[in-house]
Amino acid sequence: MKIFKNKYKSTKLVGIELPKHVAIIMDGNGRWAKKRKMPRSFGHRVGVEVLRSVITMSSNIGIKVLTLYAFSTENWARPEDEVGVLMNLLVEFLTKEIKELHENNINIRFMGDVEKFPKKCRDAIKDAIELTKDNTGLVVNIALNYGGRTELLRAFHNMMDDIQNGELQKADVTEDTISEYLYTKGLPDPDIIIRTSGEMRLSNFMLYQGSYAELYIPETLWPDFKEKEYEKALLEYASRKRRFGKI
Ligand code: IPE
Ligand code: IPE
Ligand code: MG
Repeated sequence: MKIFKNKYKSTKLVGIELPKHVAIIMDGNGRWAKKRKMPRSFGHRVGVEVLRSVITMSSNIGIKVLTLYAFSTENWARPEDEVGVLMNLLVEFLTKEIKELHENNINIRFMGDVEKFPKKCRDAIKDAIELTKDNTGLVVNIALNYGGRTELLRAFHNMMDDIQNGELQKADVTEDTISEYLYTKGLPDPDIIIRTSGEMRLSNFMLYQGSYAELYIPETLWPDFKEKEYEKALLEYASRKRRFGKI
């Protein structure tokens, strides 16, 4: 599948203030499938197509970082076969698309505890990181077995270790130091968090990094989040006044 064949050209986005970092909670695959009397797995499969088009568009319009919430620490509580479908889709996506992502200078990263995944997933993840590690284009950051609280816990543990072994002084710990201990080390904070399907919650997503992100929560279910919908989100972002506490 040639994901970069479809060069979505949007005249509306020319010259507007684009976010550097877009983070997306891709939600609503199950409901989308149910509405069509199809199994949830069908919704996830169509969801992968949408993910592909959002990556393509982000790269084409010059977004710097795209974070995608693909599997949360809480999603293990789903039925085993659905968890299996999600894993298989991930491996399929990575193996099928990696060459083209690489050719388009995309740098793939992951955040979350991927050690818990089966070997075939871990291998696909490792290969994707290794192949694209020197790429300088769009950073695609995939959140897998990710939870914001676990991320903070891990950060504090690592920080305490470094204080104990003398690599870090307590007095030097700032807000930026905390950022350095998160999975998103080196990346800017998200400017916008998009959550599809109208659910008004963060579901444990980017709790530290998202403190000043603009929230955009369309009713659209993820499999329907086509280029036009993404464009609408970006136009809405450009129209927001970000005050950061000032007047
Ligand atoms: C998002 O869609 C995909 C994942 C959480 C992996 P859902 O599967 O949560 O779909 P709904 O929310 O049940 O419709
Ligand atoms: C959030 O969606 C996680 C992902 C999109 C990966 P969920 O569907 O799991 O969230 P809840 O259960 O509605 O909070
Ligand atoms: Mg959901």
